[in-house]
Amino acid sequence: MARRSNAILGLALVVLTAIGAVMAEKSAGCGKEPTIKSQQYTMTVNGKSRQYIMKLPDRYDKDTPHKLIFTWHQRGGSAQKIVNGENINQGGALPYYGLNALANNTAIFVVPNGLNSGWANSGGEDITFFDQLVKTVEDALCVDTNLRFSTGFSYGGAMSYAVACARPKVIRAVAVLSGGVLSGCSGGNDPVAYYGQHGTSDSVLNVSGGRQMRDKFVKNNGCTPVSPEPQPNGANSVKTVYKGCKEGYPVTWVIHKGDHNPSQTDSGSSTPFAPKNTWDFFSQFT
Ligand SMILES: *[C@@H]1O[C@H](CO)[C@@H](O)[C@H](O)[C@H]1NC(C)=O
Ligand SMILES: *[C@@H]1O[C@H](CO)[C@@H](O)[C@H](O)[C@H]1NC(C)=O
Repeated sequence: MARRSNAILGLALVVLTAIGAVMAEKSAGCGKEPTIKSQQYTMTVNGKSRQYIMKLPDRYDKDTPHKLIFTWHQRGGSAQKIVNGENINQGGALPYYGLNALANNTAIFVVPNGLNSGWANSGGEDITFFDQLVKTVEDALCVDTNLRFSTGFSYGGAMSYAVACARPKVIRAVAVLSGGVLSGCSGGNDPVAYYGQHGTSDSVLNVSGGRQMRDKFVKNNGCTPVSPEPQPNGANSVKTVYKGCKEGYPVTWVIHKGDHNPSQTDSGSSTPFAPKNTWDFFSQFT
């Protein structure tokens, strides 16, 4: 009898787990009238005043769990420049790194502003900022807590990497564009889905640094290393999807021949490839 009820309990757990895997995990803000709008806010983190800009979908639905995407700016940048976008012919990025244009009302964007225009993350204070933002936003808005993402170029890539290292259970995937280890890597022993993009001619943060960052997650995610190292195909980027990774922890790497720039294009195209690559990587998770 006891064995039989254990078997039934076991079956119930299997069924519940299977349901959990397919259903969105709703944040506390689901079903509530939104108390956050598309505008700039301030919060106090470790006694310091911190600014961030929120961007809700034009057709925000309080009952639909949304993706939550953090977009961190580059050194000398600002949250406002991420919102506005910068001239892509002068090394800038499209608004929200081009992701809002692809999101079709499915994503909420958090655009944090750095202290001294960067992400030094002294004593982990920018990770604490991230933690507080997740809590504040998810209490007010409807987020799928399985679908939190982070991206950025350069220093913003460094900050996304720091988030992957320190908050592997919070963040579903990161996209690091021409990053370096500038914001630290506290932890860094757990798998996180990882998209990396770097140029072989990067004169600011060299490509070997970008490859080392990628290789941490190739290892953590259990993927099979690729040898020889992928190279650009002339003027075109080359995308490598790693094989053998643990279920749910893919790694994609894009190598191009360009310099330190988030808006590289392939030959014959005027559309930067980072936005679609990033969006495809993030939206494979449901
Ligand atoms: C955007 O989302 C709406 C509503 O889900 C859908 O009907 C429409 O086809 C989508 N558009 C694109 C371009 O994916
Ligand atoms: C790349 O940058 C790192 C970190 O600044 C440095 O230690 C390394 O020597 C550089 N490697 C090359 C090949 O320039």
